[in-house]
Formats: sequence, structure tokens, C-alpha cells
Amino acid sequence: MPMASHSYNFLQLILIFLLSFCNFSFTTSTHNQASDHQTDYDKWISWNVRNHKTKQALSWQKQSVNGAGSVLDDKLRIAEMNKMRITVSQDGSGDFRTIKEAVNSIPLRNTRRVILMIKPGIYREKIFVPKTLPFITFLGDASNPPTITGNDTASVAGKDGRPLKTFQSATVAVDANYFVAINIKFENSVPHVIGSRGGQAVAVRISGTKAAFYNCSFYGDQDTLYDHKGLHYFNNCFIQGSVDFIFGYGRSLYENCYLNSIAKKKASLTAQKRSNSSLESGFSFKDSVVTGSSGGLVYLGRAWGDYSRVVFSYTFMDKVVLPQGWSDWGDQKRDARVYYGEYKCSGPGANLTGRVAWARILTDEEAQPFIGTYYVEGDTWLITP
Ligand SMILES: *[C@@H]1O[C@H](CO)[C@@H](O)[C@H](O)[C@H]1NC(C)=O
Ligand SMILES: *[C@@H]1O[C@H](CO)[C@@H](O)[C@H](O)[C@H]1NC(C)=O
Ligand SMILES: *[C@@H]1O[C@H](CO)[C@@H](O)[C@H](O)[C@H]1NC(C)=O
Ligand SMILES: *[C@@H]1O[C@H](CO)[C@@H](O)[C@H](O)[C@H]1NC(C)=O
Repeated sequence: MPMASHSYNFLQLILIFLLSFCNFSFTTSTHNQASDHQTDYDKWISWNVRNHKTKQALSWQKQSVNGAGSVLDDKLRIAEMNKMRITVSQDGSGDFRTIKEAVNSIPLRNTRRVILMIKPGIYREKIFVPKTLPFITFLGDASNPPTITGNDTASVAGKDGRPLKTFQSATVAVDANYFVAINIKFENSVPHVIGSRGGQAVAVRISGTKAAFYNCSFYGDQDTLYDHKGLHYFNNCFIQGSVDFIFGYGRSLYENCYLNSIAKKKASLTAQKRSNSSLESGFSFKDSVVTGSSGGLVYLGRAWGDYSRVVFSYTFMDKVVLPQGWSDWGDQKRDARVYYGEYKCSGPGANLTGRVAWARILTDEEAQPFIGTYYVEGDTWLITP
């Protein structure tokens, strides 16, 4: 089959090639995470800056289907009119020293946008934003983003002595709606041990709807980003992991994101869990990059749910992608049910020669619903960060 045309300009492709052949090491040590990540982080930043310049990362403002522009939903409009800011700084110069204290200071059923200005630092905290605290924003400094790090796994015992399970292993878990994070590094520092059980170690679980992440990075190994449920938007994000590192049944658009596999063997990048055909759920990756730095190979997705849905468009895939592309997780009845699409992708990993027969090469019409912020109903809730 002919290679699909790409949306990157020539310079970007050169850069991406250089990045993928440099073999820089992405490590996930248990300690000194911030310094270990510096190199790959810097590389992502330069990719990011380039992206930003060439594409105007916020082009989503022009993406409404009918061009009518956005009309925010009422709750959000009111929350935005009454914004307030709280500063978190570990040196005591802010309103709070920890993010947890700052979150706990917000009155329940809060109706205003509360922006936590989080100063640079490594925050060793486990944070939970409950359903009763909507409209919270974590805002870091673009030139020196704060790191929120943890090391829980599914098998670690919780307060009640029972294993936390994947769901509760998250360093940051958000049940609230209208959550936003900008310039934040989220991390779970526990490395995945091949063959071990209970090693799932989530960096972020997002279960609230209408959540957006801009310029954020997500570091983990097995199960980094639990895109649990709801409408989500990721822009200019860096996401790293090995096994199923983006998973859940969110309906999410990932735009200008950089997905880095650190799998040492065969693994899957996504495990999307659309479990029945009436679930409005699926992951759409647009204008992104799929790469790897630990020698393993990845499927773009494996079917956690029978009707698993994932689409990659205009994405550069390096040779880390397995020729088959997709996995039914050993259950052939899923072959006819899953929706695994590719549209105008480029790079060696996008070579369609070895693809499973049930992968879909989308037509313009088929791709259309997935390639704008309307996929996540963005018109009613996406706002300029
Ligand atoms: C996101 O990162 C880009 C490039 O580093 C920067 O120009 C932009 O201001 C950042 N956006 C926000 C909202 O901080
Ligand atoms: C996990 O982090 C805590 C707090 O930072 C630390 O005390 C503990 O030793 C770490 N556990 C492991 C297994 O690294
Ligand atoms: C589809 O799955 C969702 C989420 O698990 C569930 O709430 C819903 O009832 C299911 N619908 C059908 C028709 O099975
Ligand atoms: C795609 O892969 C096949 C089989 O490995 C190879 O023969 C072909 O040259 C590749 N196509 C491109 C455009 O690289």
C-alpha cells in the first residue's frame, strides 16, 4: 500500500528522525526522578516548542464543526467569571507548602475556577481530587514544571491492609469534572518487572469529565495514564510507559502528543476499554509521535474491551510499532468488533504491509469525526489555558 502522506514539514521529520536514532535513555529510577528525566524532557520540550510555532497549538479554537465558535456551558462560564488563585510553594512563600493542603482548603461543591499556582519542586504527594471539587486547575511554570511523584502499585497494601489495585495506585487521581493541568510532570516511579503481578503503577487517573491537560508529562512504566472515563483533551503532552500505558474507556483526543515506549519486550501502547457498542468511548491521537527507547516493540492498541476503539491520524510512528499494529488480546470475536483506525500516518511504524486484516485504513469521511476537538465536544468546555 502507498504510504499515507504526513502532516509534518520536512524539518520536523528530520528532527523526529534524529530523536529516534539518538538512543537517549529514558530511565525510571526510583529516586532522583527529576534529574534523570532531564534529557528526554528537554528533547520533548524542543519538539514541543517547534510544534507550537509551526501549528499554533491552540488551533482547536478554529476546529468547531460548523465554525460557529464555542459556547461554554453555564456552570463553566460562571466558574470562569469567579476565578481565584492559590499559591503552593515548598519554601513557605506561598499560601500552602503542599498541593494536598491547597486542595483540601477548597470548599466542597465549589463553583469557581480555583487555580493552584504550583511553584517548581518535587512534590512527593498522593493527591485525590474528589467529585465535589470541580473546576480545579494545576498550573506549573513552563520553564520549570513541578513534578508530582509517587510510588504506589496495585499490590501495595492500602490503609485497610488490602491491595490498592490499579485504580488506587495513582499518584494523582481526579474524580472531579472540569479539571485542568498545565505544565505539570506527573510520575509514578515504580519500574515494571516483567512477569510480576500487581505491578500496575498509575501516574494519573482521570475519571472526571471535561478535563484538559496542556504541556504536561506523564512518566510511568506499566499503566502510566488511566484515561478512565469522561471527555478528555490532551495537548502537547509527553506520555511514557511500557505496558498498556494509556488505558481506560475515556473519550479522549490527544493532539500534538509524544508517546514514548520504554517496553523491553512486546507490549501495547494503549488498552482501550470500550466494552459495548453503545459506549461513546475511544482514544483519538492526532498529529502525534510514537517512539521507543528501550528496544521493545509495541502494538498501537490491544482490545481490553470487545469494542475497543482507537484512531491514529497524522501521526509519525517510528520502527517501535509492530507490523501487525493491533492485538485482539487473544479473543478473535473482537476482530469484527473493535474499531482500530489509521489515517495519514507516516514513518516506518506506519507501514501497512503487515497489519492485521481488521485494522481500518480510514477514508476522509471515516476519519472526520476523530480529528477535531468536536470529538470530545470541546466547543462547550475547552477554554484557553
Ligand atoms: C506550552 O509549551 C510551549 C512550548 O514550550 C509554550 O510556548 C507555551 O507557552 C506553553 N503553554 C502554556 C499554556 O504554558
Ligand atoms: C516510596 O516513597 C516513599 C515516600 O517518598 C518512600 O518512603 C519509600 O521508601 C518508597 N518506596 C519504595 C519501594 O521506593
Ligand atoms: C455499556 O457499558 C456501560 C459502561 O460499562 C454500561 O453503563 C452500559 O449499561 C452498557 N450498555 C449496554 C447496552 O450494555
Ligand atoms: C513496508 O514493509 C514492507 C515489508 O517489510 C517492505 O517491503 C516495504 O518496502 C515497506 N514500505 C515502505 C514504504 O517502507
